[in-house]
Amino acid sequence: MIFTEDYTENAGSLSFDILACQHTEDREACWQNLTQELMHELTVHQNKLRQAIAQRHQVEAERKQLAEKLEESEAKNHALIEASAAQAQQFGQALKQLRQNQAQIIQTEKMASLGQLVAGVAHEINNPVNFIYGNLPHAADYVQDLMHLLQLYQQHYPHPAPAIEAVATAIDLDFLIEDLPKLLMSMRVGAARIQKIVLSLRNFSRLDEAEMKEVDIHEGIESTLMILQNRLKTRSNHSEISVLKDYGKLPFVECYVGQLNQVLMNVLVNAIDALDERDQERSLDQQIQYPSTIKITTAVLPDNQIAIRIADNGLGIPEQIQQRVFDPFFTTKPVGKGTGMGMSISYQIVAAKHKGQLYCHSIPGQGAEFVIQIPIQQQP
Ligand SMILES: Nc1ncnc2c1ncn2[C@@H]1O[C@H](COP(=O)(O)OP(=O)(O)OP(=O)(O)O)[C@@H](O)[C@H]1O
Ligand SMILES: [Mg+2]
Repeated sequence: MIFTEDYTENAGSLSFDILACQHTEDREACWQNLTQELMHELTVHQNKLRQAIAQRHQVEAERKQLAEKLEESEAKNHALIEASAAQAQQFGQALKQLRQNQAQIIQTEKMASLGQLVAGVAHEINNPVNFIYGNLPHAADYVQDLMHLLQLYQQHYPHPAPAIEAVATAIDLDFLIEDLPKLLMSMRVGAARIQKIVLSLRNFSRLDEAEMKEVDIHEGIESTLMILQNRLKTRSNHSEISVLKDYGKLPFVECYVGQLNQVLMNVLVNAIDALDERDQERSLDQQIQYPSTIKITTAVLPDNQIAIRIADNGLGIPEQIQQRVFDPFFTTKPVGKGTGMGMSISYQIVAAKHKGQLYCHSIPGQGAEFVIQIPIQQQP
């Protein structure tokens, strides 16, 4: 008897063999043979079973190995995806930083060359103005002497020759004598003003001063205001912007003066822009009734810092953009008017260069206030 794979067939053949043994004479031997055959078949079957189990174990082990490898490569894939996402983010950030740096370099260069130009012009004007201003008192003295002499002549020769009389009438001598000192005085005021402007220009253009200096902050504010005078005074459709000053008693402050002037300039120009923008929608009457003002306050703070507050009563800054004012390239001004770099550069100068703070608060519709806070002394 042979066991085949088919159990029913084997079962049929087994019952047949059993039947055969029951009818044979030598039943004992038949049973023995049958038992031996069965044992043999059982052993063969057992071996096959073991083999199958071993194969199954191997397949299982291989499957497990494959699953582990799959898991491993999935983890690697995941890590790779994460790494490339992080790298992309890094690239993005580096690009942003690069653009920011580039814009900053351009702006700094622009300011530096403007500073050089201003310094050059101021230097050129300085000498001739000094001649005029320096000589005006002497001219006034000479004129006074000549007048005195003329008076003496008039006293001693009350009836001059007709030719002299004719010229005296032609030049309106009485008016000339009265007006000349006034004229000299106004020339002196004018020259003094030019001198002040030159001084402001020189102060403002101290961009080349690389080291920190102890300076009078109010001088910087005054120079910047002087340069902006043209934008503050009455123009067509704009009435004058009044500047209110509430200066505290400040000590000398250690800072990069040229850069700090740049910050003052940026903040003040923004305030003037905001006021001008509002005035475009206001009649001259309204402007006179509610004048545009910029208030500048300075004070010493308890933590060895000073604060400069510049507040305008312009349009203010809408709440949703207050956070973005210091972002590079953020501007609400028309193309070609604003680059959006003024506040971002000012922030860098105050925060990074002077370890200070620059912030703003604003109630939309009522105005904006920018506060510059810097330490009186810089830590080494
Ligand atoms: N005093 C202010 N009142 C109202 N809005 C202001 C004021 N100061 C700044 N802003 C807002 O902040 C924005 C950013 O100012 P920032 O000085 O950085 O750029 P900008 O003035 O637009 O251009 P620029 O680079 O020429 O200065 C302005 O466009 C404006 O919307
Ligand atoms: Mg600006």
